[in-house]
Amino acid sequence: LHVIHVTAEMAPIAKVGGLGDVVTGLSRACLSRGHKVDIMLPFYECIQKENIQEISLMSTYNSYYDGNWIETNAYSGMVSGIPVILLEPMNQFFKGEDVYGGSYNELEAYLFFSRACLEWMQVTGTQPDVIHVHEWQTGKPRIVLTIHNMEHYGECRQEQLQKCGLDGSLYATIDKAIDDRTIGHNPERLSLLKGGIVYSNSVVTVSPTYLQETLCSGWLSSALMTNHDKYYGILNGIDTVMWNPASDVFLPTNYHAQNTGGKKVCKKYLQRGFGLILEGRERVPLVVCISRLVAQKGLHLIRHAINHIQEIGGQMIVLGKAPDSRVQREFEALADLHNKGSTIRILLMYSEELSHMLYAGGDMVLVPSIYEPCGLAQMIGMRYGSVPIVRKTGGLADTVFDMDDESHPEIANGFVFEGIDEGSLSCALDRAFSYYQEKPIEWENIVQRVMQIDNSWNKTAGKYIDVYNSIRVRW
Ligand code: ADP
Ligand code: GLC
Repeated sequence: LHVIHVTAEMAPIAKVGGLGDVVTGLSRACLSRGHKVDIMLPFYECIQKENIQEISLMSTYNSYYDGNWIETNAYSGMVSGIPVILLEPMNQFFKGEDVYGGSYNELEAYLFFSRACLEWMQVTGTQPDVIHVHEWQTGKPRIVLTIHNMEHYGECRQEQLQKCGLDGSLYATIDKAIDDRTIGHNPERLSLLKGGIVYSNSVVTVSPTYLQETLCSGWLSSALMTNHDKYYGILNGIDTVMWNPASDVFLPTNYHAQNTGGKKVCKKYLQRGFGLILEGRERVPLVVCISRLVAQKGLHLIRHAINHIQEIGGQMIVLGKAPDSRVQREFEALADLHNKGSTIRILLMYSEELSHMLYAGGDMVLVPSIYEPCGLAQMIGMRYGSVPIVRKTGGLADTVFDMDDESHPEIANGFVFEGIDEGSLSCALDRAFSYYQEKPIEWENIVQRVMQIDNSWNKTAGKYIDVYNSIRVRW
């Protein structure tokens, strides 16, 4: 099979969250199974050319946008062993310090990019078996669509769609093709994600539980119901090449499940580095939280954890970045309040390197999401021996099973709470802390156990390949 991913993110060169990890990890898994894979993504200004191996300008062609033809450079290269094609239009699109949030119109830039990818395939005579598109940014009427987050539905005005050369009749068709009962969505607007659901040959979302949740609620549920025979829930894996405590170059020392001594070194290193030293107290549980700071992630619960962990004698490091300036300011105020003490650190930035350090140095990784389509942080945490504390939702419910749930002790691997109230979180933190403090030998066993759980793409990449094959046969 030849699969081309069309995506807005790819780890590590253009990553904001899990989407980037998934594109890289799934591609590597398919390559290792003998398939041909290319990743197409915008050549964001923030991507550094030095981070792309074997980079070369492959072709220059013109791509349509708003009545003009925009000269576009297509570069090829390799990133972490995976072939990439980067499209660089000669206009303002994708310019800026970060992947998202530049001063151009994001929606129009991705509409342009989607079309430019197809045009590139046409001008170069590239005919993949499958085009795998991700999220609304690339939710065009082609083949496999993965929905990473139903809340990002790509709302678009008719004239914006027209700028990429699609006429208004398509607009009517997309809306009619689904249903007239849409709620929570502006009827004057088109959802690119909804269009993707209708026109793709298969639609995948990133965990079985999230699939059920999306069929039951949300304004896209009826669209998904109508298309349920081509809708699959495939659990994400993690890229075990990028995330490997035994070879991770960001750690002061490496370790593995059979010898976790190095994890203790990483914890000390982290505590010393951040001044989290409590004289005379050896075993202090350290909770880490690595997260985009957005409502989905349970902001009030993260804030509550900061206070509660302090109260019950633990330490916590939060690594996060808020796209919303109001939230960023709120967390800055918390950082000012807490960062001078010896128990809490709030680091408001994006840092791949620090994230690796935190997964390794933490005892527990907190993921208190309100909803979570899949969630990679809990899986990465486990690979590094940090025991997850999560809210039971979406992919978190599919990957973390409570230590105190006696119905399946053989898969117990963390601490789970259900409510979105602060008390439910406190209770889970208290349980985790007493386990850690009162049963040190059992705790060490849990650490080793979670490190050995296979959450890699080995388990689920095959399901994607089955989906690719099934639509290839039908066509
Ligand atoms: P989402 O995609 O919703 O953000 P996931 O749990 O699927 O959530 O994936 C998040 C990914 O982004 C993980 O690889 C996590 O380590 C990373 N990440 C999130 N915030 C930061 C940050 N501030 N710095 C570095 N990495 C981060
Ligand atoms: C989204 C979701 C997250 C998921 C990731 C990768 O950003 O919020 O739950 O793990 O995509 O699919």
